[in-house]
Amino acid sequence: MPNTLVRLASILALLAPQMALSHGDAAPQAVDTTGLPDLPEEMAPENPWRTAEGDLMVTAVEIGAKGFNSNCARCHGLEAISGGLAPDLRYLEADDWGDEWYLSRVLDGYEQNGAVKMPPFADILSQEAIWAIRTYIETRPDDQELAARQDELHTLKAQVDGLKDDASGAEAVAELLIDVGSSFEALSGAPKSVTALEEAALLLRSDPPRVKAASDALLGILRD
Ligand code: HEC
Repeated sequence: MPNTLVRLASILALLAPQMALSHGDAAPQAVDTTGLPDLPEEMAPENPWRTAEGDLMVTAVEIGAKGFNSNCARCHGLEAISGGLAPDLRYLEADDWGDEWYLSRVLDGYEQNGAVKMPPFADILSQEAIWAIRTYIETRPDDQELAARQDELHTLKAQVDGLKDDASGAEAVAELLIDVGSSFEALSGAPKSVTALEEAALLLRSDPPRVKAASDALLGILRD
């Protein structure tokens, strides 16, 4: 039936770009860093947000995640979990040596026998974007630990959902989210991992508490 074929072709045409982009967009792109403080023009030698707290930390991680997904994930893997194409960046040490290595690769890229294995990002990413991506990478938790502790995370989500319209217990639940969140170590050895637990805690601490948004945020670490 020609009609069906035409329809099928147009559906495929619609799907094709998405399929090509499913591991992150191919063309390197600038990252919108609105919400992060401006950094001095000169490149910092170390991640300026390594020990950031609260809003600043969560914002850096969120913006870093976007930057990572659009520029790095297609080679280094979604959620920075490498599929083997390129090194697993979650293990790059969160210290001055790791930062120096990170900067040199990100700014200059990497060529082997004249072939570009990793493109340079010096002309594409701002300093704020570069360090936000670094912050995202180094605060990744151990995905296997996340998988192993799903029951605990489901219970936490149920506690958030239980707040519903009565948000008076929000602060107590926020504290619990922070506590559990800090028990997940970062694979890079960074001071802490940053996950949806931390984001949800901030949402519960906003005035008035954003219970629904906090609950939705937690979906980001629930696997089933
Ligand atoms: C086209 C694929 C590709 C893209 C896109 C890419 N990389 Fe890479 N990257 C590689 C490969 C391949 C290596 C290994 C090079 C080597 O042997 O040192 C690498 C190495 C690195 C290293 C050194 C890791 C180590 O353990 O030695 C860092 C850091 C890094 N990339 C960061 C990034 C970041 C951040 C982005 C996004 C802004 C990015 N890369 C985008 C392919 C890519």
